[in-house]
Amino acid sequence: MKILYKIFSTPEETADGFAEEIISLIKTTGEKKKFVSIAISGGSTPKLFFSVLADKYSGAIDWTTVKLFWVDERCVPPDDSDSNYGMTVRILLSKINLPSENIFRMRGEDDPVKEAERYSDVISNHVNHKKDVPVFDIIILGMGEDGHTASIFPGDEKLFTDRKNCNVSVHPVTGQKRITITGKVINNARSVFFLITGSNKSNIVNEIYRNSEVSRMFPAAHVRLKNGKITWFLDYESGKFIV
Ligand code: 6PG
Repeated sequence: MKILYKIFSTPEETADGFAEEIISLIKTTGEKKKFVSIAISGGSTPKLFFSVLADKYSGAIDWTTVKLFWVDERCVPPDDSDSNYGMTVRILLSKINLPSENIFRMRGEDDPVKEAERYSDVISNHVNHKKDVPVFDIIILGMGEDGHTASIFPGDEKLFTDRKNCNVSVHPVTGQKRITITGKVINNARSVFFLITGSNKSNIVNEIYRNSEVSRMFPAAHVRLKNGKITWFLDYESGKFIV
C-alpha cells in the first residue's frame, strides 16, 4: 500500500495544495469515467479547503461529473450548526454548479439506524463496485484529537470489520449519535486523503506515521487500503514530529 505525506507551512497553504490535488484528480478521473464519486468529511478542518474550492475552482471543472457523498453525519437536522451537510452547503455547495441530483446527503434528522440502512443502499446504488464492495474514487477524511476518523471512535474498531456500508456510532464525550461509513468502504477506495491541521494532532500523526504499537488504538491507523493510495495533507504544526 502506498502512503504519501505532504507537509505545508500553514493551514492556508495546506488547503490550497489540497484543493489543487483534488481538482486535478477529479479532472483526470472524469476523463476516464462517466462520473467521479467523492465522500467528504465534516468538522472544522475542511472549511478552509471548501472555501478555496468555492473561491478559486468553481469554474475549473465540470462539476456535473461529480457525485458527492458524506463519510459521516451528526444526527441533527440540516439547519443545525452541527450538521456536516449544512456546513458544506453554506461554504461550498451554494457557490458551485453541482446538480442537486448528484448530492447524496446523510439525513441526520431521521432515525439513525434506518438512515444508516438507507444510506448503505444509496451507496450500493450509486457507486461502482468491485466484488460487491463499493469503490469510491476519492474519500476525504479528517482525524479528531482522539484519533477518530469519519465517525469511527476509539473502541469502535468493529466498524472496520462491519459488513454493512454504513452504521451508527456515538460520540464518546458528547453522546451525540452519528452515521458513518464503515472501514470496509473506506479501505476499498481508490484514493483516501487525510486533511489535518493543528499541533493538537501532531502526536497522533507521529504515532501513525511510525506505525507504533500505540497507534493501533487510533481508528485513523486502521485505514489501510486494499489497492489504493493514502495521502496525508498536513500543515507544519500537525506534521512537525515527522519532518
Ligand atoms: C465529523 C467528522 C470527523 C472529523 C474529525 C476532525 O463530522 O466530526 O467528519 O471525523 O473529520 O473529527 O474534525 P476537526 O476538523 O473539527 O478537527
